Amino acid sequence: MDHVEAGLRREPPTDLSDVGEDVGLRDRIRAEIASGGPMPFVRFMELALYDPDGGYYRAEDPRPGMAGDFLTAPELHPIFGATLCVGLHEIWERLGRPDPFILREHGAGTGALALAILGAADDPAFRAAIRYQPVDIDPRRVAAFRERMVASGHGEVIVTANDSPFDGVILGNEVLDALPVHRVRQRDGRLMELAVTTDTAGQFREVEIEPTTSALQTRLAGESVELAEGQTAEICLALDAWIAEAAAPLARGLLLLIDYGAPAAQLYDPVRRRDGTLRAYVRHQVHDDPYRHVGRQDLTAHVDVTAVERAARAAGLATIGTTTQAEALMGLGIEERLRVIQADPATTFEAYTHLRSSLMRLLDPAAMGRFRVMAFGRDWDDDPAADPLRMFAYRLPTTR
Ligand SMILES: C[S@@+](CC[C@H](N)C(=O)[O-])C[C@H]1O[C@@H](n2cnc3c(N)ncnc32)[C@H](O)[C@@H]1O
Repeated sequence: MDHVEAGLRREPPTDLSDVGEDVGLRDRIRAEIASGGPMPFVRFMELALYDPDGGYYRAEDPRPGMAGDFLTAPELHPIFGATLCVGLHEIWERLGRPDPFILREHGAGTGALALAILGAADDPAFRAAIRYQPVDIDPRRVAAFRERMVASGHGEVIVTANDSPFDGVILGNEVLDALPVHRVRQRDGRLMELAVTTDTAGQFREVEIEPTTSALQTRLAGESVELAEGQTAEICLALDAWIAEAAAPLARGLLLLIDYGAPAAQLYDPVRRRDGTLRAYVRHQVHDDPYRHVGRQDLTAHVDVTAVERAARAAGLATIGTTTQAEALMGLGIEERLRVIQADPATTFEAYTHLRSSLMRLLDPAAMGRFRVMAFGRDWDDDPAADPLRMFAYRLPTTR
């Protein structure tokens, strides 16, 4: 997903009146508030996205893609996955060509990334070693993923993820930003937590409550962050458990996460981020009201890169590098790939112009180009400073 923050003219908004909301879920949230009092925002977000009966990610149809609510890099164009495949091949080589080489993708969604990676894996030994393990929150999504791969001739490499240790790469593109976040606000010199209540008309309203956990203050203090008076911010405490669990079966290899986010010092900047980074996506429009279209709009918050790096270290992984998506793709030769496609007589004018415009968005520092690519290794012997992976030829400083 990308949204331009550069102050460019926006297209007029499309009519969203028929999007509606999941009435059953909305009523259950109201009932929980009526019996338990104001609901911490983190609980609201968990229900809005993950409730098995009405949560956004539990809907029958996946929502990325042109017909959905947002466009991710793999959905935008297969050149993203094809270029990433160059990096995966390099990792496989450096690991000593393990067979099987597991690619476990969290938030595998429609399979757009898997299709592009598998379609571009043209070294026969590499292709033969790959076993692709899709993981997603909804079993129907994983079943649809498998069907799509079978229909595309990749069925034989798709395997079910299990707890056995493996060598390979754990991938997650735009997954961390979907984890439920606490929202906090600095009020009269104290940290307060945001919660959801209902007004007399039953509409959801925000209220400030005493923090429900001291972990919120501990996280900010650990990152040397002091919020300014009135500043609102999101804190993703779920990151630590998610990363620990995702990394647990990795015997040798990398955890590779791609998402929009920033180190804590930038993320909690009291001037640029005074109102936090929580956003709602619906039909390719972005807004900041999480209480509209309950269960029918995506909710996300920027990822705290400092917290990710700490969580990965706590999970026993070593930081290999953090860079931007633009730098990673350039390091992996995306421009050369463009030239090859351009020179191919089979490429139509339409395909080429679509590719070029997609590339602009993938690399644009005001759009997806500024996304962070973060890699952490287990039993990864190479000295990243001496011989960086191609995607980390340029690295951003690691936060401590
Ligand atoms: C924004 S979409 C990204 C999909 C895909 N990775 C892409 O880049 O097109 C987020 C995906 O992550 C899945 N998801 C959300 N939370 C998850 C979690 N905690 N574990 C695994 N998958 C999750 C959703 O169902 C959805 O398919």
